[in-house]
Amino acid sequence: MSMDYSLPRGTQDILPDEINYWNHVEQTAKHIFSLYNFNEIRTPIFESSNLFNRVISESDIVKKEMYTFTDKGNRELALRPEGTAPIARAFITNNLSRAPQHSKLFYKGPMFRYERPQAGRYRQFHQIGVESIGSDHPFSDAEVITMSYRLFTSLGLRNVKIYINSVGSDTCRPVIEARIKQFLASNLSQLSENLQEKFKNNPLKMLDSKDETLQTYLSGLPDMREALSQQSKDHFNFVISYLDHLNIPFEYKPTLVRGLDYYTETVFEVVSEDLGAQNSICGGGRYNNLIKNLGGPQTPAVGFAFGMERLIMLLKKQSIPIPKRPVLVYIAALGKEYQMECLNIAEELRNNMINVTIDYSKVDFNGHIKLAQKMLADYMIIFGEKEFESKQVSIKNLANRHQDDVPFAGITNYFQTILGDAHV
Ligand code: HAM
Repeated sequence: MSMDYSLPRGTQDILPDEINYWNHVEQTAKHIFSLYNFNEIRTPIFESSNLFNRVISESDIVKKEMYTFTDKGNRELALRPEGTAPIARAFITNNLSRAPQHSKLFYKGPMFRYERPQAGRYRQFHQIGVESIGSDHPFSDAEVITMSYRLFTSLGLRNVKIYINSVGSDTCRPVIEARIKQFLASNLSQLSENLQEKFKNNPLKMLDSKDETLQTYLSGLPDMREALSQQSKDHFNFVISYLDHLNIPFEYKPTLVRGLDYYTETVFEVVSEDLGAQNSICGGGRYNNLIKNLGGPQTPAVGFAFGMERLIMLLKKQSIPIPKRPVLVYIAALGKEYQMECLNIAEELRNNMINVTIDYSKVDFNGHIKLAQKMLADYMIIFGEKEFESKQVSIKNLANRHQDDVPFAGITNYFQTILGDAHV
């Protein structure tokens, strides 16, 4: 029997070459979230399966895509498919409703869905998300949408579109669903079994179906905003007026409904045409009943999450530069007898926050310079017999080949001067 050690389908290794993108996105997000006073929360990667069964039972995520397992103590657990239900659970577990201000939280980490892998769709993927818990003010909806817009523009992304819609409250939902049903009833027999199933259980989800026959039937559907209660209409109009006030470009999309069941009122999505089939970078909305449905106090909330893999795909597709990694100095000992001295220089530079790499297998200039170039080092310090005699090293700029002789005692200062404050 042969063992299979291959990478599990739908997962990826993120290699050092790639990690600069990840760090850049994570740091930018963290920075922007803190401008709005959102604070980080970390919750476990697995939760009780019931948590997701309870609040997203109607979605494909729970029906088909959950990674569930039974642990050695016979507990039914699931690798989290998304972050909102776990944050709501943590809000209840830790009594965060007692906090003086409403909880503005962000999180990042891996999520798991047993989906059919394709470009931009993985079984382990990574989200960064925010949850603004405790306010039902439309200002909160506008705030998280604004924050997502600020994040994507700060990263330099172009041509991203924000779509927004309202699915109304609990009381509007049956009205909207009845309207859809009434509108489609006479054509029902023309639709696929799958769509007929949706018609029965979750007619709202028919709105964003890609089925062309259905879409032609739906094209004459009256404006769904008319089916909203006055209160939901007012809420949505306030969100829109705040966004207009802040000059956030968005588009009202009456067919926008989301895959997860917990949404009420505002829903939104950020998409890019540059991404192909999996064009949704970010999705979110309001979920006023989720925390109550999990046994907590009635607590309104709104949030979003975006997919790291898709966002990074887009950064690359749009050739958006990301900050370079810090300057790297390579130290080359031309002979074993100089290695100890080089080690001292390396540690001295590291004491001064300069990144250094040193190699002990090579002892000749050609071997060292090849390796330094392969490592994409910026400078090479050369230390051989001549340098030992003259008590000066040679420092070579590997980009422009310029070389300086620098006394031992002046090496740190040399780098501090040319690097300025930039690298600290
Ligand atoms: P979601 O729309 O299911 O929402 O996922 C949000 C984002 O995660 C998507 O827009 C996409 O970028 C990324 N994503 C989802 N599935 C995959 C996958 N299989 N592979 C790669 N990327 C993926 C949520 O998860 C909600 N919890 C968002 C939210 C937060 N709503 C309120 N607060």
